[in-house]
Amino acid sequence: MGNTILVGAQWGDEGKGKIIDVLTEQADVVVRYAGGNNAGHTVWVGRQKYVLHLIPSGILRRGKLCVIGNGVVIDPLSLVAEIQGLQNIGVKVGRNLVISETAHVVFPYHRELDARRELLHGKNKIGTTKRGIGPAYGDKVARTGLRMGDLVDLDRLAEKVSARVRENNRLLKALGAKPVVLKRVLAEYLQAGRFLKPFVTNTVPFLHGVMKRGARLLFEGAQGTFLDLDHGTYPYVTSSNTTAGGACTGSGVPPHRMDRVVGVMKAYTTRVGEGPLPTENKEISSLLHGMGREFGATTGRARRCGWFDAVATREAAMVNGIDDLAITNLDGLDTVASIKVCIGYRHGKKRFQYLPSDIRTLSACAPIYTEFAGWQTPTERCKSWRELPANARAYLKAISELTGAKLCIVSVGPGREQTIFV
Ligand code: GDP
Ligand code: IMO
Ligand code: MG
Repeated sequence: MGNTILVGAQWGDEGKGKIIDVLTEQADVVVRYAGGNNAGHTVWVGRQKYVLHLIPSGILRRGKLCVIGNGVVIDPLSLVAEIQGLQNIGVKVGRNLVISETAHVVFPYHRELDARRELLHGKNKIGTTKRGIGPAYGDKVARTGLRMGDLVDLDRLAEKVSARVRENNRLLKALGAKPVVLKRVLAEYLQAGRFLKPFVTNTVPFLHGVMKRGARLLFEGAQGTFLDLDHGTYPYVTSSNTTAGGACTGSGVPPHRMDRVVGVMKAYTTRVGEGPLPTENKEISSLLHGMGREFGATTGRARRCGWFDAVATREAAMVNGIDDLAITNLDGLDTVASIKVCIGYRHGKKRFQYLPSDIRTLSACAPIYTEFAGWQTPTERCKSWRELPANARAYLKAISELTGAKLCIVSVGPGREQTIFV
């Protein structure tokens, strides 16, 4: 399969975890390249549900290597808990996990700052996961962050952390928030550093080494295209480059070594957190929530739902260079009689075929819809393209064509076996 980048083509939670798990069968190494524990990637193996936050979803397949790349921000306490949680239920996490020494570390003051800024923004808040992601990437860009290499340099950790805590506590106090307790941070981070030390290395030569030996790499995107810091609906975005380019900068594997980009999208649209969602629709939200679906894997918040937005996915195909599409959650539309698809935006007399970058303009855009007849038949047991109802095939073909990429995978349920290769 060559080296493959897998990205979310919408606003996150497209089902990347499930598709990564399926594609890992044909890969040797799975690499996370951006984001942090704001991500929640769900994988079902038989009756066991796993939600991965920092560890690549490939960890669930034996014999595969997993890498947390330099582009990721790591909350070490959360990572230790995730490793131990997996180990406790019998998943091997040891020499099959490698962590970049240049990935930045998330500290409690990042989480406090994240929460405080959200509070201060009031109704203009972003709706972050409050995991400290924005402030941690902020420190990285400001060149004041500490990295995993610092965390595992146990002799000098106290000195480095003390300086950072002192500075950030001043900031927290100025914003009216409670400062963090240095002694506690030191104790917890020393312990986490000791635990994580054996996993931490320079992942760039590591990845180039395995590539030289013929390994096939699968890059696991987190979040989605429209949460990308540069290409998303700024400021309602996360703080990293979630799009395909991020796989290169976030891992040290150069563009010419990438062979294929897979874009994952739901058969409809969801978003969790604030910000514009042009096709948001109450009816489809109630329908999906009524089925017990579309609650966040990380924060448990109800996701906002809407019709499929082909304006957005077309832009995602362009920005990421999507070759192949994986369309998930087709079964979510099984009961809908008439399915809408957004093919353009209207703003006064103006029409848009792309997302206007001005957030106020985008928020005021009205979707232009076309409609498709539903199939009103359960699809969760379909095993092949031919078994899918004709209307479902027509719908899938149409949304792939509108997006401008080749349909490759259709997912009709959360399980591994509920996957159709087209
Ligand atoms: P990710 O962040 O992109 O990995 O997606 P999440 O795990 O946050 O959310 C996707 C949700 O959809 C999870 O609960 C998955 O188990 C579920 N899922 C994925 N594909 C399908 C599908 O085709 N049908 C159904 N019913 N659920 C799916
Ligand atoms: P996965 O990888 C969906 C959203 C948050 C918020 C915005 C900024 O599971 O698809 P942050 O905490 O990153 O500063 O929040 O981004 N967000 C996600 N939404 N899926 C995710 O990850 C997300 N990660 C962040 O809800 O709107
Ligand atoms: Mg998710």
